[in-house]
Amino acid sequence: MQAVRKALIPVAGLGTRVLPASKAIPKEMLPVVDKPAIQYVVEEAVSAGIKQVVLITRSGKEAIENHFDAHFELESVLAQKGKTRTLESVTDMVPEDVEIVSVRQDQPRGLGHAVLCARHFCEDEPFALLLPDVLLFAQGDSDLRRMMGHYLRSGAGQVMVETVPAERVQQYGIADCGSAPPDAHASAPIAALVEKPPPARAPSNLAVVGRYILPPQVMPILQRTQPGTDNEIQLTDALAALLSDQPLHAYRMGGCSFDCGSKLGYLLANLYVGLRHSETAAGLKAALTSMQNSSLQCTD
Ligand code: G1P
Repeated sequence: MQAVRKALIPVAGLGTRVLPASKAIPKEMLPVVDKPAIQYVVEEAVSAGIKQVVLITRSGKEAIENHFDAHFELESVLAQKGKTRTLESVTDMVPEDVEIVSVRQDQPRGLGHAVLCARHFCEDEPFALLLPDVLLFAQGDSDLRRMMGHYLRSGAGQVMVETVPAERVQQYGIADCGSAPPDAHASAPIAALVEKPPPARAPSNLAVVGRYILPPQVMPILQRTQPGTDNEIQLTDALAALLSDQPLHAYRMGGCSFDCGSKLGYLLANLYVGLRHSETAAGLKAALTSMQNSSLQCTD
């Protein structure tokens, strides 16, 4: 099976769910403790073996490209001052054999359209797709890496899913795996996929998380896909069409996910990382305990 070397990361969204924080800076650049959210997603791709990351972006979001580019002035000042560790934190973000490139999405026509904008980068090969609102954390191997293993063993495209409460199915693509849904860390064939169904019409509560390993054949299908939910070209609709040609599997994640496109998800991601970061863990734990005991309550 052909190795997966490329990852597409769509970053052209307007970030309306996290306004006003995302008015002047891309939501993907909002920090989670000490790194912007996008850096976690790029690191996740790189640690799964990806060699080329394609950012699908738009005007006004250049800060994302700049973040992964060299910054000569800053680097020379840090070098002169002998701040080696800080210097490494800005120069060693990705290994030397990993390339980060970008392409523009000129109109907000949906996730399917964004993916199509990067078709020239992966015309003949499978690719990973990571939606950067969602941060994933796991013990040991990442879920993306494990899902890649399932792809390499089965040859079937993979869509990462997790179970969500019935009242939230309308926020996600939903996978129907019939009577044999996958266990955590396992994959199972998908019978049907539907984008954001009302709870009464949802075939399951297996929600698409925002990580995919897809075959190149999805690109010509996307070119023919008509606007669907929200009048946007939906990737889920193209995947549903792909299912009539080849199998797709749902990989059920075993780690935890945080939707940084929502206020609560973003806050929880910061707490999750902060409670594990060597510089913040002890202080944060102590502060959370004090807050629970109300000693940090503000008084008028
Ligand atoms: C997109 C996908 C949806 C998926 C979701 C995960 O929706 O279309 O299938 O479940 O990401 O975050 P969006 O959140 O961009 O509306």
